[in-house]
Amino acid sequence: MNFFLTLCFSTTGQYWIAVSESSREFDIVVWGATGFTGGLVAHYLDSVAPKNLRWAIAGRNEAKLDARLAELSKPVPKILADAGDPESLHEMSRRTRVLLTTVGPYAKYGMPLVESCIATSTDYVDITGEPDFVAETLKHHEAAKAAGVRIVSCCGFDSIPHDLGAWCAVSALPGRAPIRLEGFVRAKGTISGGTWQSFIGAVSDLKGTQAKARSAPKQKLDGRKVRSLPPRPRYETRLQSWVVPFPTIDPEIVKRSARSLDVYGPDFQYGHYLSLKRFSTLAKGAAGLAGITALAQLPPGKDYLEKRILSGDGPDASTRAKSWFHVAMLGRSGGDRVRVDVRGGDPGYSETSKMVAETALCLAFDLPREEATQLGVITTATACAEPLVARLRKAGIRFDVSQPTRAR
Ligand SMILES: NC(=O)c1ccc[n+]([C@@H]2O[C@H](COP(=O)([O-])OP(=O)(O)OC[C@H]3O[C@@H](n4cnc5c(N)ncnc54)[C@H](OP(=O)(O)O)[C@@H]3O)[C@@H](O)[C@H]2O)c1
Repeated sequence: MNFFLTLCFSTTGQYWIAVSESSREFDIVVWGATGFTGGLVAHYLDSVAPKNLRWAIAGRNEAKLDARLAELSKPVPKILADAGDPESLHEMSRRTRVLLTTVGPYAKYGMPLVESCIATSTDYVDITGEPDFVAETLKHHEAAKAAGVRIVSCCGFDSIPHDLGAWCAVSALPGRAPIRLEGFVRAKGTISGGTWQSFIGAVSDLKGTQAKARSAPKQKLDGRKVRSLPPRPRYETRLQSWVVPFPTIDPEIVKRSARSLDVYGPDFQYGHYLSLKRFSTLAKGAAGLAGITALAQLPPGKDYLEKRILSGDGPDASTRAKSWFHVAMLGRSGGDRVRVDVRGGDPGYSETSKMVAETALCLAFDLPREEATQLGVITTATACAEPLVARLRKAGIRFDVSQPTRAR
């Protein structure tokens, strides 16, 4: 067995020596396997994983882990680890090469595992869409780099189709002219208890969430520019849809990738939109969102909302089978235009579990840590764009890239 010693520094100036092995007991551990999405990840790995994959499921509740194991076609080991017990997190993370976590809300439970993965030199992937949590992880970028690990958040529907769709678009454009890219999202789906709890947590303290999200350190650029396009709600004739600015975490992830990769060119501008066929759907959605946000401001309202969809609940297989997503990326650079369409099934759960599992497999097998050139707190496009797009295409998610055309 080979050992690697790494000197690591935390954001508070502490340092430690991390020991890692090239042959740990597991390639992937799925923490949160007792939850709704973690369960789908476990089933996905159980059905598609290569024979040589060494993996385990993890959670805080042994009886629930046993119940999950009973559903799988092949036995795998189980690990007990609780977010409130840092030693159990260290014990878990030091046994695996990649730690995949679906334990959320991430703002509540996520940071101890990120810190543990940096301390034990373990690659990390999650499916958060919470901007305040991601901002917190970015403060550990230098420590993660020094530990030689990849901390890759947002490996689900937030934000893989957008991040990798944008990467496909800029990669298809010739030349080094400034790039203007717009992403348009359409989706049909139902949410789980975990997503609902994370959403209520964020809207109940909108100001705090936004302040934390803004505190994220930004990577410095050497002469290049990465900017947001001015928002333009409108009827978009190319999509025959109404489009409105969509302030999810996705545009921030796309711009982070643009900051770290030269392929986004000397001056990259991005705009992110929700796309709707009917204007009335938009009006109803905005009214619903405003009502939920208002109700979540007071503790009794927040309690009431949290009980509407419980942790562990989520859409059943037939509901998921009727769900879908489509992300269109329309870009131009100089006189060239490009279009990328990313399409798949149920965005939140069937496809999210596939996306995060394939990201973990990609880090473990296509770009192992010892050979990786991109380290630290990074996006999926920065960590593993090309092999991950290839994996997701093989897994049934479409990335259709048009040949660039000259604008008239
Ligand atoms: N970005 C995306 O596209 C996307 C898509 C889907 C989900 N998500 C996010 O993923 C997260 C999970 O969603 P979900 O619907 O799967 O939630 P869920 O069913 O409620 O599962 C949550 C999991 O976290 C575990 N957990 C809770 N507290 C813990 C603790 N102290 N220690 C260890 N484990 C703990 C739960 O364990 P028990 O079973 O023991 O309670 C369960 O396994 C949410 O934050 C959601 O927003 C994001």
